[in-house]
Amino acid sequence: MTDDAFDDILSFVEDELSFATSHYNDSYLDRRISSRIRRTGSDDYDEYYELLRSDPDEQEALIESMSINVTGFFRNPEVWDGIRSVLRELESETDEIRIWSAACADGREPYSLSMLAHDDDRVDESNVRILGTDISRPALETARKGVYEESRTVDIAEQLEFLDNHTRYVDVDDRTYRIADDVKRTVSFERHDLINDDPKSGFDLVVCRNLFIYIDNEYKSPMLEVLSESLRPGGYLVIGKAETIPPNLKSAFEVQDARLRIYQRE
Ligand SMILES: C[S@@+](CC[C@H](N)C(=O)[O-])C[C@H]1O[C@@H](n2cnc3c(N)ncnc32)[C@H](O)[C@@H]1O
Repeated sequence: MTDDAFDDILSFVEDELSFATSHYNDSYLDRRISSRIRRTGSDDYDEYYELLRSDPDEQEALIESMSINVTGFFRNPEVWDGIRSVLRELESETDEIRIWSAACADGREPYSLSMLAHDDDRVDESNVRILGTDISRPALETARKGVYEESRTVDIAEQLEFLDNHTRYVDVDDRTYRIADDVKRTVSFERHDLINDDPKSGFDLVVCRNLFIYIDNEYKSPMLEVLSESLRPGGYLVIGKAETIPPNLKSAFEVQDARLRIYQRE
């Protein structure tokens, strides 16, 4: 590998294909590019760069592989026990519970939040409003439809086992899972870029999981500032289980559950 060719690929993707590679960390980008190098049978970065410049299909394939959209219903189930406790706490504090699922991918996270609210006797789901946002328009399109297909690698029924009876909230037809209308009605979707767009305001709970692990350090703090400003004082923040709050922002939050990465805005 020559570092030059790797950098050339990143510049090409950023300038010509309008994908902001500079926001992501190099090891993540390297894994994605190396995987395309293997798939296309290219010998090295130089050869792959030549292919990429001349082949629009490969440009699309690389952008697709760089877009991190892995997600699931009730991902890391133990965290969802913690989120249930937060919802109950909020129910006792406020008439309307406003929740933001930031970087929500294809919508399974905000729909999990909605199902959790509908499923809990101690939470009145009619008081809950959930906003799901992501930078990816195709992901949001899937999210708005609320229809998910089971595949060889993704066992949706297993993901939904977190609930005692998921068929109350999802219509299952062979390998197709459709979110029920009342669960959908609690959730709305819009595009939001956590690096370039403004903060929101007044949220009681912000969930932003499994994005920071891919993001270059330089952008983590500004992103977390956006999330923090979007919370009302005393509002809750949940980040991914493998993620941490940068040292300069630690004083903005009180730790609610260190293991589950649940924090409360000071
Ligand atoms: C790995 S998924 C996480 C989905 C979900 N939160 C979960 O934990 O299952 C990361 C998501 O972040 C989105 N994303 C990447 N950069 C973003 C940005 N700057 N602003 C908002 N979303 C972004 C991607 O499109 C992707 O859907």
